[in-house]
Amino acid sequence: MKDIHIAGTGIWYPEDTISNEEIVLSFNSYVDNFNDLNKDKIEDGKIQKLEYSSTEFIEKASGIKTRHVIDKKNILDINKMMPSVVHEDESKMSIHAEVGIKAAKKAMNNAGVTSSDIDAVILGTSHAARNYPSVAIEIQNELGIDGYAYDMLVGCSSTTFAINNAVSDITSGIANTVLVINPEISTPFVNYAKRDIHFIFGDGCVATIVSKNNTSNNSFKVIDRKLITKFSNNIRSDWSYLARAASDEKSYEDLLFYQNGNSVFKEVCPMVAKFINNQLEENNLKSDDIKKFWLHQANARMVNLIVSKVIGSDNFDTSLAPLPIEKFGNLASAGSMFAFNLHNDLKSGEKGLICSFGAGYSVCSIIVEKT
Ligand code: COA
Repeated sequence: MKDIHIAGTGIWYPEDTISNEEIVLSFNSYVDNFNDLNKDKIEDGKIQKLEYSSTEFIEKASGIKTRHVIDKKNILDINKMMPSVVHEDESKMSIHAEVGIKAAKKAMNNAGVTSSDIDAVILGTSHAARNYPSVAIEIQNELGIDGYAYDMLVGCSSTTFAINNAVSDITSGIANTVLVINPEISTPFVNYAKRDIHFIFGDGCVATIVSKNNTSNNSFKVIDRKLITKFSNNIRSDWSYLARAASDEKSYEDLLFYQNGNSVFKEVCPMVAKFINNQLEENNLKSDDIKKFWLHQANARMVNLIVSKVIGSDNFDTSLAPLPIEKFGNLASAGSMFAFNLHNDLKSGEKGLICSFGAGYSVCSIIVEKT
């Protein structure tokens, strides 16, 4: 049996930050403007008056205080309400490749590996930058890596599912070291005019080196992986290459990310807690054997609820389940490994658990042990 390790990680995030006060001020100005422009229709009952957002709601409901974004100015501008980006084309590097390489170099440094040690690149993300060629192949080329590379999409489980693929490839013998990259540039896909969504996402990227017998200072041995998917329409994006030819009318806004957040909350928390408990039992582990829970960062209350269900108490220190969501917002699939990158101070032999949950639904839980 080969020992396979998460040998190092690296993160990238943009410099711009938006506080709750700033995002609410922008949203509420948009609401005033909309209600003013549509005063007559609102009075006639033809359209509904928009309601204000609130900083108190955002922090209480999600735990988010700030988010890092690629373009603060245009997101907050009520005449734009989206970052300014350009189309992908062959004259320049993909936005995903650009940020992916920054995170990848840090992960390689952290793991003590160079391009010549890497046999494969797997890029997992919630939103593909383009259809083809794979951004993973572009990054492979830029970093001078031999072997193979591909992109994959599993919503908010794209990072953990990609790490799982890396472990499987190493187990099967087709690679020894795999570079996993997870760019999550979500803000171009956020409808900043929607009250229940406008505060959620930030931009960021994480990279992970998965490697056979790598016992660098930062490495964690992979003990167990467990995956499950269960179909749900509660988190959806209908953006598709079919848009050009589709005969039914839909606006850009119709095709963006939307969710029934409350149903997600209610359905996913018990599902994930049960899933983790089963995994611990199958591995003859007790919940107090897990010294750190690096969970998907969609909502701080969800993280705390899941951990309390797993350990059987809501009385625990926040250091047991770190919450980078407070500073970064929801980083889609990159959230759990952001938590891992920022809070991995375990002692040799101590175990931790990485778990994603998101659109699909998709869940992947990985138990690791500090070497
Ligand atoms: N400001 C003020 N009030 C708001 C608001 C805002 N920005 N957005 C919604 N509200 C209101 C709602 O209209 C509702 O009012 P009502 O009770 O009068 O109907 C009330 O707040 C509660 O709304 P609800 O949607 O039930 O809030 P919630 O407690 O479920 O929190 C989320 C919303 C999105 C933060 C939460 O559901 C969540 O994070 N869910 C998980 C989503 C997830 O994991 N998604 C995966 C994506 S990667």
